[in-house]
Amino acid sequence: MSCQSCNRQPHDYVTEVIDHVKLDDSFLEIATVADSLQVPWGMTFFDDKILFTEIIGNVKQLDLSTGQVSTLLRVPDVFTRTTPGLLDIVVQKGVKDNPYVIINYTAKENDRIISKLVRYTYQKDTLINPVDLLTVKGAKGHNGARLMLDSKNMLYWATGDVADNTEAQDSTTLNGKILRMTINGEIPPDNPIPNSFVYAWGFRNMQGLTIDDRGNIFTSEHGDAIEDEINLIKPLNNYGWPAIEGMHDTPDEIEIAKHSSRTKPIWSWTPVVAPAGLAYYGESDIPEWKNTLLLVTLKSQSLRVLHLDDKNQQVKREQVYFSKKYGRMRSVLVTPNGDIYLSTSNRDWNPQPGFPLPTDDRILRLRKTTETPDNYLKEDVVETESKEHKGKQLYTSFCASCHKEDGLGVKGTFPPLKNAARVEDSNAFIDLLLNGSKGRDTINGVFYEQDMASFSFLNDEELAAIINYVKTAFGDGEQISDDHVKKKRK
Ligand code: HEC
Repeated sequence: MSCQSCNRQPHDYVTEVIDHVKLDDSFLEIATVADSLQVPWGMTFFDDKILFTEIIGNVKQLDLSTGQVSTLLRVPDVFTRTTPGLLDIVVQKGVKDNPYVIINYTAKENDRIISKLVRYTYQKDTLINPVDLLTVKGAKGHNGARLMLDSKNMLYWATGDVADNTEAQDSTTLNGKILRMTINGEIPPDNPIPNSFVYAWGFRNMQGLTIDDRGNIFTSEHGDAIEDEINLIKPLNNYGWPAIEGMHDTPDEIEIAKHSSRTKPIWSWTPVVAPAGLAYYGESDIPEWKNTLLLVTLKSQSLRVLHLDDKNQQVKREQVYFSKKYGRMRSVLVTPNGDIYLSTSNRDWNPQPGFPLPTDDRILRLRKTTETPDNYLKEDVVETESKEHKGKQLYTSFCASCHKEDGLGVKGTFPPLKNAARVEDSNAFIDLLLNGSKGRDTINGVFYEQDMASFSFLNDEELAAIINYVKTAFGDGEQISDDHVKKKRK
């Protein structure tokens, strides 16, 4: 009797292909590679296996050549509740036998919640020899956290602010920070603050941390109510929380950033998407996504593909996939062969309508296929930009060259917009943008020689967005409608 499955190639164990998705040219197949899990929070790759955590305290491994899932460790002292629990995991790089495996989880010390970083050694399908590397404050919420090893096995830990607004701006504490240490938990001599783990500060609650092939480090961070962030992490930079959230766009934020150096995010979302796992995609296997950051989200239940510029310093554009299709997603991993793995988080404390499915939680694999499927998913058309965000972007493109990002203008050349007469007077403001201003003008006793061009080439909606942004950021905050512009245009 012939036995087809007996001859299977190691990598082609039977997986259930559940969907296809079309990119510009390529088709990807989406397959379930593991199911019935309990919030697979962190994933890491080692030796044709995915090692992953479950929030309830299990470290498991998925053998990519057989599809077998087995348990490596039950963390004895994990404390789980809503968001605390066993969080992230990383494996030492470049070591084939018995590498270190580092995990982060919340535990209890008497009545106090703590957040522990513990190193184990991988041996024969189990984890042995736990060594405590570092312990920081934990809390019922905002524990972060993500772990990352760079190519030299330097360990980075993105810690949460434990919902305490005094942490992020205190460079002497270890919460609301990116911490950097050796794989033995020691402070490296080249850390930016001597004898301190602190590498960067001013963070709220990060659940994404990744590094590109040039050594740029990126994080994703949950904002409070209005702005989620992607940050490019540089040593000793201060990212502003809690005084600054997201872009520097309110008068208070602009004022703070003027007096002390604060680093802006390279991308932000209003309304919030609840960003979680983040992975750099540098492979050529899926050419449309080469040089992107892949972000999975909880609230918006989607995969977001953030295309980077040539220098990997800015996000150029965002694409959204799978909105609400697989529910909340917590973790994303790119393996050396260019496959992408996503984990769902539908059995966590906050499942969305329609979830969890009986098979949740799942680990899904995305892989390019040469077949042309009959049915497939496409990029989601979503209103990714709020009006507020759009107004700010238009202001940056069309106005900031003269009036400057902080609205203060250039003394004697371009007038300030802060409390300006024609910012307060909506009709005059609309007229100015529709008609421009020709002829010399004296404003508040200062003579301006130059004219201001008309912006009537922008549509009603765009002009209203700019005006509303300027009024919010620099003026009385009063808002106008698209219709108001339309009426004045006639
Ligand atoms: C090339 C430079 C330049 C650009 C770009 C520019 N402006 Fe101006 N703007 C000026 C100058 C010069 C004046 C003052 C002279 C005048 O009013 O004729 C002015 C005046 C203003 C005033 C009046 C201030 C007051 O005190 O009454 C407002 C409001 C204003 N600009 C808003 C904008 C907005 C919004 C944009 C973008 C859509 C913009 N400007 C783009 C140069 C510029």
